[in-house]
Amino acid sequence: MQYQKLPFACLLVTVFCLSGQFNAQAKDITLPPDGMQLKASDLPGYFKAQVNCVACHSAEYMAYQPPTAPRAYWDAMVKRMKSVFKAPIDDADMPAIVDYLAKTYGNEQSK
Ligand code: HEC
Repeated sequence: MQYQKLPFACLLVTVFCLSGQFNAQAKDITLPPDGMQLKASDLPGYFKAQVNCVACHSAEYMAYQPPTAPRAYWDAMVKRMKSVFKAPIDDADMPAIVDYLAKTYGNEQSK
């Protein structure tokens, strides 16, 4: 009688182990939870950055970049996010995002 429950128990153990494994994999790319928002702006890239740049990490990563960083630095950064981390950023959105970043976090800040 009780052996009939064995397959179910095996299934549970398997699911448990698999989910544990997936969790372990996810941990490699999960960054510490923090809630820093992107700096508000009227630039069109602000909205695009909100869509494309804070899915994996918060705006803290942008805030900690040197304010002297030139446009080319941000351009390389956005491209790196796409090529290295497979960020689903549309190439057409990149110039606007780079523009926003350079003017908001980089050396083109007016304030
Ligand atoms: C697919 C996930 C993902 C998306 C989307 C993403 N990033 Fe990242 N980003 C990462 C990871 C992972 C790191 C950590 C890299 C490291 O620790 O070296 C990172 C790090 C950074 C850093 C810190 C500096 C560095 O080189 O590590 C900056 C700045 C940054 N991202 C900016 C951006 C911008 C701007 C966008 C939008 C264009 C963006 N990220 C979108 C995954 C992503």
